[in-house]
Amino acid sequence: MQRIWFIGALVLVLWLALGGHLGFVGAQDQAKPKKLNPFTGNPEAIKEGRNLYFLYGCNGCHGGTGGGGMGRPLIDDEWTFGSDDETLFKLIRGQIPEQTMPAVFGAVMTEEETWKILAYIRSLYKGDPSLVNW
Ligand code: HEC
Repeated sequence: MQRIWFIGALVLVLWLALGGHLGFVGAQDQAKPKKLNPFTGNPEAIKEGRNLYFLYGCNGCHGGTGGGGMGRPLIDDEWTFGSDDETLFKLIRGQIPEQTMPAVFGAVMTEEETWKILAYIRSLYKGDPSLVNW
């Protein structure tokens, strides 16, 4: 009887040690980046975000519903610098050195406004649902 406990404990310890090392313990948590945008899926914020999107002229390049014109479409699952909240927050605020999108918005909009606009953009998504990481 004691032996079984001992073997059980040994297996558990090995599994934790090896799993932690090989990255399959807790891999789920790592695959999905921390959700940063407090407004994702919030209907009020999405409505406000839509107004801000037009106020700041995002539609001039990306079209009114993010379908793309001169700028990149915002509804698909192809992203120039990445799809996660942090990357798009930085891009919109002009903090990615390689970006060609105008880097002016960070100076005129608040961080909260940026998140609300991003919540609106998320609501337009028509790409592969399994690629959602926000
Ligand atoms: C002058 C045109 C222009 C305007 C105005 C503009 N963008 Fe962009 N946007 C771009 C371009 C070009 C890219 C492609 C990334 C790059 O090269 O910087 C882009 C990329 C993006 C992306 C990532 C899309 C992808 O597929 O990677 C998001 C999100 C975005 N813009 C949001 C906004 C928001 C929000 C506003 C308004 C505050 C805005 N853009 C205003 C030109 C514009």
